[in-house]
Amino acid sequence: MFRLLTTLILWVALSEASKIVIQSNPNYLLQDLTKTLTLRCSLLDTATTTTTMIGRRDAGDLTETQYDVQSVTAISVVRNSQNEPVANLTSQPSAAVPLTDLKSLKVHGSLGKNHASSPNSEHAFLEMQWDHPGQNQTGGYTCYIYAVDAQGQNIVFSTSAEIGQEFPSADDMLSHISQLEKTVDALEQRLQAVEIKLGLLKPPHAEEGMVVCEDSNNWNRDPYGNNGRYVFHNVKFQTPYDKPPMVSLGIDLLDESSDAYLRIHTDIDNLTKDGFTVRCGTWADTYIFKVRVRWVSVVA
Ligand SMILES: *[C@@H]1O[C@H](CO)[C@@H](O)[C@H](O)[C@H]1NC(C)=O
Ligand SMILES: *[C@@H]1O[C@H](CO)[C@@H](O)[C@H](O)[C@H]1NC(C)=O
Ligand SMILES: *[C@@H]1O[C@H](CO)[C@@H](O)[C@H](O)[C@H]1NC(C)=O
Repeated sequence: MFRLLTTLILWVALSEASKIVIQSNPNYLLQDLTKTLTLRCSLLDTATTTTTMIGRRDAGDLTETQYDVQSVTAISVVRNSQNEPVANLTSQPSAAVPLTDLKSLKVHGSLGKNHASSPNSEHAFLEMQWDHPGQNQTGGYTCYIYAVDAQGQNIVFSTSAEIGQEFPSADDMLSHISQLEKTVDALEQRLQAVEIKLGLLKPPHAEEGMVVCEDSNNWNRDPYGNNGRYVFHNVKFQTPYDKPPMVSLGIDLLDESSDAYLRIHTDIDNLTKDGFTVRCGTWADTYIFKVRVRWVSVVA
C-alpha cells in the first residue's frame, strides 16, 4: 500500500501538461500616467499540474491539458464582448500582426518548435505592447491558442484578462513626480557630460596679431643706464580668455641702422585674461628703425 502511494506521487510530479496563461503588466492603467501596457499570452509546457491563473477565467475555457501538445498553429487575441480582433500570430505567414490600435500597438511572438518539452518552458507566445495606453485599451482580453495534440486532434485553449483603468491617487502622482525628478536629474548629468565632451572637441581658443615698434630714438629711456630704450604696446584679446593664456612672440620684420651691433629685446608684460603688453627694447648705440612682432595666444 505504502509502495503504491509513492509510485503515484512520482507519476503526478513527472506528468506533462500544457497550459495557457495571460499576463499583463501593469494589471490596471493609471489614467494618463501609464506609459506602456504589456499583455503576453503563452502556452507553457509544464511538469506540474498546479494552475495559477492571472486574470479572469471563463467557465467554458480550456486552460490546461494533462499532456503536452504536439504543436501550436495559431494565437489570436480579441477584446471585449464584440470580439474586436487585437492581434494574430499564424504560421502562414509566420508573423505576429496587430489588428487594432495600429498607432500604439506593437506585437511579436513565436509558435515554437514541435513538442518543446522542457518543463515550465514557454512553448509559444504572443506579446502585445501599447505605448501610452488609455481608455480604448481597457476591457476584457481573450486569448485563443490553437494547437494539435499527438493524435492530430485540434485543441483550442483560451483564457482572459481584464484591464481596468483608475484615476491616479495623490500617492501615485507623488511617486510619478519623484520618478520624473530622478529622470530629470539623470538627464542633467548626462547633458553636463556631453557639454564637457563638446567643449573638449571644440578647437582651443587661439588668437594672433602683430605689434610694430618704430624709431628707437623716440622710445622711453631706461633709468638703469647703457642708453637703454624701450617702448610698450598694449594688446587686447578679441575675446577674453577664462584665465591668462599662453602667449609667444616672434620677430616678423627688423630694420635697423648698420652702424652699430644689432641689439633687440622683445618680451611680454602684465599678461591677463584680457590682454598683455609687448615691450620692445634696445641699448647702447643701436638704432632700431622698425621691429614688427607677431604674437600668438592659446588657451593655457
Ligand atoms: C485572426 O485569427 C483568427 C483565428 O485564427 C481568425 O478567425 C481571423 O480571421 C484572423 N484575423 C485576421 C485579420 O487574420
Ligand atoms: C479610441 O477608439 C476610437 C474608436 O476606434 C477612435 O476614434 C479614437 O481615436 C481612439 N482614441 C485614442 C486615444 O486612440
Ligand atoms: C603692469 O601692471 C602694473 C600694475 O597694474 C602697472 O603698474 C604697470 O605699469 C604695468 N606695466 C605695463 C608695462 O603696462
